[in-house]
Amino acid sequence: MDAARRREVLQALGIELWVARAADLETPAGDEPVSSGPAESAVPVSPEAPAPVPESPAAPVAGLDWPDLESSVAGCRRCGLSEERTQTVFGVGARTADWMIVGEAPGAEEDRQGEPFVGAAGQLLNQMLRAVGFRREQVFIANTLKCRPPGNRDPHADELAACRPYLDRQIELVRPRLLLVVGRIAAQALLASDLPIGRLRGRVHTLPGLGIPVVATYHPAYLLRSPEQKRRAWHDLLLACSVAAPEGDGGAR
Ligand code: URA
Repeated sequence: MDAARRREVLQALGIELWVARAADLETPAGDEPVSSGPAESAVPVSPEAPAPVPESPAAPVAGLDWPDLESSVAGCRRCGLSEERTQTVFGVGARTADWMIVGEAPGAEEDRQGEPFVGAAGQLLNQMLRAVGFRREQVFIANTLKCRPPGNRDPHADELAACRPYLDRQIELVRPRLLLVVGRIAAQALLASDLPIGRLRGRVHTLPGLGIPVVATYHPAYLLRSPEQKRRAWHDLLLACSVAAPEGDGGAR
């Protein structure tokens, strides 16, 4: 990327332009500050207070095609979140995308519209994608949970487990060249780790099972609250590009 384009991109992301000393870029991930906000705190996924799980057996998800997977999600009653949702939020975008983005769970606006990342955090996510050459519709965007947790609380472990087969099948169907996971909850869930996001970001992981490269970064909602971390998120995006560079058409196969 040439210097002028880089300047433009950094400005679009709201990153102040300054020249980093080498040491700034070499900070080991383990020394990253752990965020102050709830979405990025170091606490592992909460195992307590399981939501009531309805008794009807969950229909199998393995092997479903897109239409069947979509209707299975729409009718899902695997956990108590189904009682409170306006609608499920399946995921959106190119089903042959090179990059798949995985966030945490729908918020109020996503629950209303049935689409992931349509609120303020979604606007920033769009800008982040744009900064590396993707339009939103050129990637596939999904969440670890397909239903909104009430009051935007953190997902419970049993909810994540109940919903996981849907995400796994989406990943299998898209078969992206890269998974960009945003935020602690999604990163810990996909990487089966309880490390804080500051330790998970900044390097390339491999998705257990499918072997797809995974880059974790801060959640855009956290970046809105902590804009000083945007610089690190930008480095994560560049790292993701080094694994699967966006092509002229955004990479959709
Ligand atoms: N935050 C997420 O993690 N996902 C959404 O869809 C919206 C906000």
